[in-house]
Amino acid sequence: MTTTTTLDAAALSATPAAEVRNLNVSFGPAHVLHDINLRVPANTVIGLVGESGSGKSTLGKTLVGINRASSGDVFIAGEDFTKMRGRRMRQMRREVQYIPQDPYSSLSPRRTIGQTLAEALDPRRGNHTAHHDTIVAALEEVKLDATAIEKYPHEFSGGQRQRIAIARALMLRPRLIIADEITSALDVSVQAEIIRMLRGLRGTVDSAMLFISHNLAVVQQVCDDVAVMSNGVIVEQGPVASVYRNPQHEYTAELLASVPGAPGFTLD
Ligand SMILES: Nc1ncnc2c1ncn2[C@@H]1O[C@H](COP(=O)(O)OP(=O)(O)OP(=O)(O)O)[C@@H](O)[C@H]1O
Ligand SMILES: [Mg+2]
Repeated sequence: MTTTTTLDAAALSATPAAEVRNLNVSFGPAHVLHDINLRVPANTVIGLVGESGSGKSTLGKTLVGINRASSGDVFIAGEDFTKMRGRRMRQMRREVQYIPQDPYSSLSPRRTIGQTLAEALDPRRGNHTAHHDTIVAALEEVKLDATAIEKYPHEFSGGQRQRIAIARALMLRPRLIIADEITSALDVSVQAEIIRMLRGLRGTVDSAMLFISHNLAVVQQVCDDVAVMSNGVIVEQGPVASVYRNPQHEYTAELLASVPGAPGFTLD
């Protein structure tokens, strides 16, 4: 859909959506991420779990360019994101979309959903009649109907607002979506609906996803692989089933033991 890269389709699918090499991130004297290495292959969903304050959001935000790397490299679709400037940087920003926990903070209360989605499609000309068909299709993907276009964020439930935030990210068909605790604030039943929807989209959308979550059971439902973070370090990474069944790191074992009921949670 986009022409933001010169690689052809075959080369793109072989290139990882994202690759982080020896990434360090500090905020002043606080060294938050230590030598992170992470590969997100095209079309895969990688879970990122770990205790509060371990650095999950910091990593996600560094992948989108909200945080700056102190050292190391962040490749998006094979290109070094940390070294980009100007127009190229703005183009690349569309290739990585960040969905926060609370979409209320990212959906403008004074704009209709149509205006917000049109603006994401075309920041300079947020004219939603021009983009009408794309917006209707995007809403359909998250199981909302076209009447949403004329409404404002406060007219929706938390789960519906999160669907809108997901639609906005998906609509651009980015290489990578960072989903940062996107179901954590929702009731369990609404959470299950969103998870079902995300699973259903796996066949039609080939954006890769970094799925940040506290909930190991949800990660099992949504992700191919899982990376476990502790104190700014990725201590273990692998297919969800094998990491859960046979954790290689003591911290992972503790994390698994601390979650009541997980693993083994199922939707159906
Ligand atoms: N902009 C910032 N300035 C200073 N310190 C920050 C900033 N962002 C994060 N930190 C610090 O980095 C550490 C990791 O925070 P981060 O938000 O990445 O953790 P997290 O794993 O996402 O936690 P949670 O599960 O609670 O969301 C914390 O100690 C936090 O205080
Ligand atoms: Mg966080």
